[in-house]
Amino acid sequence: MGIETSCDETGLALVDDGGQILAEQLASSLPSHQRFGGIVPEIASRAHVECLLIELENLLERAGVTPRAVERIAVTAGPGLPGALLVGIAAAKALAMAWRIPLVGVNHLQAHLYVALMKGRTDFLEAPTVGLVVSGGHTALLRLQGFDRMEVLGQTRDDAVGEAFDKVAKLLGLGFPGGPVIERTAREGNPKAFRFPTPRLKAGSPHDFSLSGLKTAALLRVQKEQASGGALSCAFVADLAASFQRCIVEEVTAKTLAACEAAGARRLVLGGGVVANRDLRQRLVEAAAERGVETALPERALCTDNGVMVAALGRHLLALPPGRLNAVPDLGVASLS
Ligand code: KG4
Ligand code: ZN
Repeated sequence: MGIETSCDETGLALVDDGGQILAEQLASSLPSHQRFGGIVPEIASRAHVECLLIELENLLERAGVTPRAVERIAVTAGPGLPGALLVGIAAAKALAMAWRIPLVGVNHLQAHLYVALMKGRTDFLEAPTVGLVVSGGHTALLRLQGFDRMEVLGQTRDDAVGEAFDKVAKLLGLGFPGGPVIERTAREGNPKAFRFPTPRLKAGSPHDFSLSGLKTAALLRVQKEQASGGALSCAFVADLAASFQRCIVEEVTAKTLAACEAAGARRLVLGGGVVANRDLRQRLVEAAAERGVETALPERALCTDNGVMVAALGRHLLALPPGRLNAVPDLGVASLS
């Protein structure tokens, strides 16, 4: 069983030994946060407390099993919102003790990646393989070696890719979260309407990302438009969304393929909420294939936070004594819980 409560989603899932999903429950407190323009931690924690046990009952009923059938519990240990993580961890500890089964702490970012491999693609764990995690709070390129060993090749110096989508959507008055609404809006726009500068890094790892310049360029363009005409037209918003998305997709694709080349990797694994973006998926898979790199990526519904990814990775990790497990809000992408 996987339990995910690191942010606004309460995700629970039962996955069998072969990586088949037996049942899944996903509730989100997103509507309660929307008027604040971002996730309010206290609201997220309270929502997890309210719905977790109801979700658990529904999960067992849906799978047609009793608690006796559950062999181990995996729970997100970090990174994430402290209060939200603690709700899931407290529930998982109580269930593991009551049902007398092993408990496993899972790194949320690693779970985003490994869900793409849950149906037996463990050949992707033979190094050199590159992993790309692009979520709301994190952006990282990794060199993977097994379920519990990885090395960070590059990370973002400022905004995460999902965060950049969220901030530009806010700028355009499109609401929260930004990724899905930018993707929808971009369909009506011209991706070549605006040119944004390609991010350049002078020092540090060539595999690092920097997206704050792109975000500032979008802000300046919006301010210029507002100064000249007042309200933003639908055509302007669509063109800006399309141009911004194109620029991000190109940047992420270029960085990822450069990392594959540097690591000598013929395999690439993708994960995180931003991988739900159709343009990014298509561009990355095509560009990788052109260079002889095979790509594994989760189906779109499993890109954003869910319990399946936690269960999928939890099957492969060592169980911890329940007393050792605690929330680690700033858990690093390559660290074990
Ligand atoms: O992985 P995730 O569900 O949560 C975190 O671990 O952060 O990722 C959420 C992020 C948000 O920033 C959201 O705007 C972005 O993923 N996202 C997308 C899309 N769907 C979600 N970004 C671009 N295109 C999408 N279709
Ligand atoms: Zn996530």
